[in-house]
Amino acid sequence: MTGFSATVLTLYPEMFPGPLGASLSGKGLDKGIWSLETVQIRDFGEGRHRSVDDTPAGGGPGMVLRADVVGRALDSVAADDRPRLLMSPRGRPLTQSFVRELATGPGVVILCGRFEGVDERVIEGRDLVEVSIGDYVLSGGEIAAAVVLDAIVRLLPGVMGKDASGSEESFETGLLEYPHYTRPQVWEGRGIPEVLTSGDHGAVARWRRERSLEVTRARRPDLSRAWEAAHAGERPKK
Ligand code: ADE
Repeated sequence: MTGFSATVLTLYPEMFPGPLGASLSGKGLDKGIWSLETVQIRDFGEGRHRSVDDTPAGGGPGMVLRADVVGRALDSVAADDRPRLLMSPRGRPLTQSFVRELATGPGVVILCGRFEGVDERVIEGRDLVEVSIGDYVLSGGEIAAAVVLDAIVRLLPGVMGKDASGSEESFETGLLEYPHYTRPQVWEGRGIPEVLTSGDHGAVARWRRERSLEVTRARRPDLSRAWEAAHAGERPKK
């Protein structure tokens, strides 16, 4: 197995590669930097109708993916060192550091939930790590899985070209990004901050740091507090 290997278990394999087949991630797929395989959960369903779900024990709305069906689908994927993720709003929040951790590994196996959820016994029995992409509810795990894969793939060596480090980006520095400008010099009467055209690289760096801090304080007090704590006692850069 070469490159980063992704296997997605889903009832909707036609959703893949989807947007991951375009742009940088698509080129990465073509170049073999990463690979994507889908497994149709329904192929492991019960009976003539290949049924995959059933009513929740204890009653209530919706349907639950069966442990036996999901277990067979997972067991059809060759056992290796890849973490097995279950996309779920109950999961560990996806962060840039979690993405970096996943991107340095051999790949991921991602189970996409649908309906009300997945039988808890298969989550326990197959050591699934539940992962959430945010505090809102999607109709299924597929779009969440694509988000996880996109965030991982852009970090793989060779995918982003010279921007590969992404070290100035939001969440890599712990701060949101400073504002960007390009030509034209004046657009609808709006100019570009003078310092950016001054040629003074030190002044540009200080201005960007200040704008980053300002936008982070205004929009994300949680990130700003964490950054202040991590950088407490540092002298402001001259
Ligand atoms: N499935 C449904 N909602 C989700 C979310 N917020 N994150 C991950 N998987 C999901």
